[in-house]
Amino acid sequence: MLDEVWARGKHHTAGMNDDIAPPANAIAAVTHPNPYPWYAALRQGPALVRDEGLRLWVASRAEVVREVLANSAMRVRPAAEPVPRAIAGTPAGELFGRLVRMNDGAAHAAHKPALQRALAGLDLPAAHAGVLKVAARMPAAPLSDACFALPVAGVAHLLGFADEELPRVLDWMRDFVACLSPLSTAVQLQAASEAAEALMTRFEQLVAGEPAREGTLLAAVRAQAPGDTSRALLANLAGLLSQTCEATAGLLGNSLVALAREPGLGRAIESQPAWLNALVQEVARHDPPVQNTRRFVAETTIVAGTALEAGDAVLLMLGAANRDPALNPAPASFELKRTDRQTLGFGYGTHVCPGQALACTVAAAGVEALLAGGIDTAALFERGWDYRPSVNARIPVFR
Ligand code: HEM
Repeated sequence: MLDEVWARGKHHTAGMNDDIAPPANAIAAVTHPNPYPWYAALRQGPALVRDEGLRLWVASRAEVVREVLANSAMRVRPAAEPVPRAIAGTPAGELFGRLVRMNDGAAHAAHKPALQRALAGLDLPAAHAGVLKVAARMPAAPLSDACFALPVAGVAHLLGFADEELPRVLDWMRDFVACLSPLSTAVQLQAASEAAEALMTRFEQLVAGEPAREGTLLAAVRAQAPGDTSRALLANLAGLLSQTCEATAGLLGNSLVALAREPGLGRAIESQPAWLNALVQEVARHDPPVQNTRRFVAETTIVAGTALEAGDAVLLMLGAANRDPALNPAPASFELKRTDRQTLGFGYGTHVCPGQALACTVAAAGVEALLAGGIDTAALFERGWDYRPSVNARIPVFR
């Protein structure tokens, strides 16, 4: 049903408006009004396509994306640049370099299980209620800012930060995540380092101080890593906020886009609030906020019959893979009631996102709060939206 409405979207297209040129490449696709027909054509082609302009191998089919994510010759960072040059040797670089997301091997194995078990043990209905409480005290406008602020404030609240500290945490996080993008300026990189330093100091105080309040995510992580006060733990606690930030802003924003494109969807959710979660999960499959991730070849290997050399980089198009008919039947169709929904939008294998259930809960609570605040999705559709410049995250900016 949604695709029919997409087909009449006068501002943003999605499969239909012939006057919009297809994306120039797999990176431009991330923020293209509708990259999905182009993804479909790419999936029909070779399993791995070499893009000389981007200096990347590109994988778009689900089976190939999975194969790469399961290949032990692949790493999450290039061997020669474990931390991006722009932040190496700075506080932002230290935080980045300690994240499980950015490490393989021992550094990854040392902290991922604690995060995973703590997140898996969360009481999701209580988390939903907590995020609603936080949302009720936050400004809902401008909407695009609310999409960023709400998830981070929600997860900070779940970690145990007091209400009065939430604005400060939001500032730190906005500043820090800017350094994760290759598009950041020197001023943003400096601000990111200041924020990283402040975050590490604050988590150090929290870990060294009174025992964390029962029921908080901080208490849960600490219970899974007893006695651990290492800087790696502190960085990964801050990482829970940074991993939340852009991806969940995109999931919340893209859920509003789905509601704007399909008026029937809003009515369906009003009549059955339990479908809120299905909405967010279908958006995470159909129009995912993290459109791609990368892997770097550490030693010669073969992927889908193609030999790759050490130093090669592979772009895994999660947004394309989610629409692979081999992964989900009728993949272009937006179906609330889809059974056995499969998504690669949260990764796969060793590095799979441990925050998937929390992210969906937070985004669902965000949608609920914004709808309760009277957001008019028909007006959103009329005004339209663009996408924030990014090489991997699809985050709408509402006009
Ligand atoms: C819509 C929201 C989110 C999306 C789409 C998302 C997506 C992803 C993806 C694709 C990866 C794997 C990257 C790769 O293998 O290259 C990942 C990893 C990770 N995510 Fe999420 N994520 C979201 C929210 C969250 C939240 C809310 C948390 C925690 C509070 C979180 C924590 C993590 C962590 C710690 C990792 C690193 C796991 C590892 O490297 O082993 N994410 N996420």
